[in-house]
Amino acid sequence: MCGIVGYVGPRDCSDVLVSALTKLEYRGYDSAGIAVFENGKIEVAKSKGRLTDLVNKMETQGKPQGHAGIGHTRWATHGEPSDINSHPHSSGRRVSIVHNGIIENYKDIKKFLIENEHGEFLSDTDTEVVAHLLDYYYDGNPIKCIRKVLHEIRGSFALGILFADRPETVYAVRCESPLIVGQGKGEAFIASDVPAIIKYTKDYFLLEYGEIAVLKNGLASFCDLHGRMIEKELKTADFDEDSAEKGGYPHFMIKEIHEQPTAVKTTITPRIECGMPNLSECGITPEELKKFNNIFIVACGTAMHAGMVGKYVIEKLARVSVTVDIASEFRYRDPLIGENDLVIIISQSGETADSKAVLNLVKGTGAKTLAIVNVKGSSIAREADMVIYTHAGPEIAVASTKAYMVQLSVMYLLAFQMAFAKGRIDEEECQRLTLELVRTPEVIEQTINRIENVCRYVSTKLITADSLLYIGRGLDYALSMEGSLKLKEISYIHSESYAAGELKHGTISLITDGMPVIAVATQNSILEKTISNIKEVKARGAMTIVICDIQADIDKEAADYIIRIPKINETLMPMVATVPMQLLAYYTSVNKGNDVDKPRNLAKSVTVE
Ligand code: G6P
Repeated sequence: MCGIVGYVGPRDCSDVLVSALTKLEYRGYDSAGIAVFENGKIEVAKSKGRLTDLVNKMETQGKPQGHAGIGHTRWATHGEPSDINSHPHSSGRRVSIVHNGIIENYKDIKKFLIENEHGEFLSDTDTEVVAHLLDYYYDGNPIKCIRKVLHEIRGSFALGILFADRPETVYAVRCESPLIVGQGKGEAFIASDVPAIIKYTKDYFLLEYGEIAVLKNGLASFCDLHGRMIEKELKTADFDEDSAEKGGYPHFMIKEIHEQPTAVKTTITPRIECGMPNLSECGITPEELKKFNNIFIVACGTAMHAGMVGKYVIEKLARVSVTVDIASEFRYRDPLIGENDLVIIISQSGETADSKAVLNLVKGTGAKTLAIVNVKGSSIAREADMVIYTHAGPEIAVASTKAYMVQLSVMYLLAFQMAFAKGRIDEEECQRLTLELVRTPEVIEQTINRIENVCRYVSTKLITADSLLYIGRGLDYALSMEGSLKLKEISYIHSESYAAGELKHGTISLITDGMPVIAVATQNSILEKTISNIKEVKARGAMTIVICDIQADIDKEAADYIIRIPKINETLMPMVATVPMQLLAYYTSVNKGNDVDKPRNLAKSVTVE
């Protein structure tokens, strides 16, 4: 969701801001804007639409010229996407701000400002109210003013701020919403995420709750909530510009699909010792794992689907009860959790508002929390009792692929280690399963090479569909949930996933002539049953596409198209069967001419409820 950037240094500030915002496009947005100090005055340019609309506007109406400023991509929450509602927002001429997050009490503040005859409100946004509040309290001391405002506003937010009488200086503050401060040679940056600035510097500081950053003369300095100067630890990003670029692929999504073998290898290799899973560097010991009676996996979107696969695998191997829940439901349903329970939060970004809220909910219940997170130093990673980092590298496409795949690989490691710790499998079996997992990167690579063209072709049969079904049983059902989500996210075709055995209880009435039904049929132990369900829909006119292994005996009459993938251990098949689902979604979106990496209305990182 909204992206914030800021710059102070010798380069053309407008160019740096636009370039950095381009790298945040993946977060999702519907308008963009910048504010730059030009000859000591704040000049603003903003526009509804894409960054290219902003650039075109600046080409005709003039680009702010200067060396310090802030920029923003907005994902509308308060007020429609429009030029007026776009950030930066200003209070007359004294203060300009960009904001990520939500100010919950903005109505009360607006009322207070109106009662005190302060400010003329032009937009529908909560952000503009904060600009006026800053102006209201500003007496020439920016830090004092920001601290005062911090005490009055409620919600999750990160702000970039310019004070007109402090030219060439950018202020930033963070509460909940992520914000990093980049430090280059003679230049400093703020950004919602590291990829935005990686082109200029790999060195950055993580701004913590309530900390204020001041960017001046190319240097960043910091103070805490009480206004005291503080030193912060400089971190270095472990990826470079290339990994945050498309590297010759037409879209980030297909690049990220191809990166999966490496991502899985990088994620699992450091966690395997003498052929056995070893998660002790993440704070997880076999003794600890033995204690848990119940596991709750809580997440949103794709991450929740990785949890669904985790449930099947952990329950099957470790014989521990696993409940999977959507974070926005879990947090409000007063769940029964207590000592000896483990709550696993899965999140690529580590910043998803609902998933983050679950951590607070669990505190004080006696349950332990384990975060499985991709972004280092993110809020969820820092707040959980234990953390397993997935090493997918930056994932830019909104539709998650490699992050899901590495989440699956961690689910397996955890399941194997837990099953062994609980005495459900012996060392030999644990080593055998672990070895199969170690081999999956190679199999994933073979699968991509083998079926990419097939999926490209089959996707041409989907583009005219209004609606389709994904079906499967057991692990295939868990997988089909992700296949269906992937497809609908980027192809805009209505799609639902259904447990194949449940079709007859209602959904089969939706089948009409030619309606696509994609069946995931990789679980040989229940293959016969799935085939019966495929035949049932086929008999009612469905166009059936079956994803199965190379040896599966599928009746030609049952399937219009068969996508065959390599066969590995049945329990591990999701690591391979995910690939055709991703490719089908990708090529359907490409064939429909959609914006694959930035699907409409979606955001990569959902930092508000
Ligand atoms: C958004 C993204 C999804 C993602 C979900 C959870 O909806 O578009 O791709 O799965 O958020 O995000 P997280 O960062 O917590 O995994």
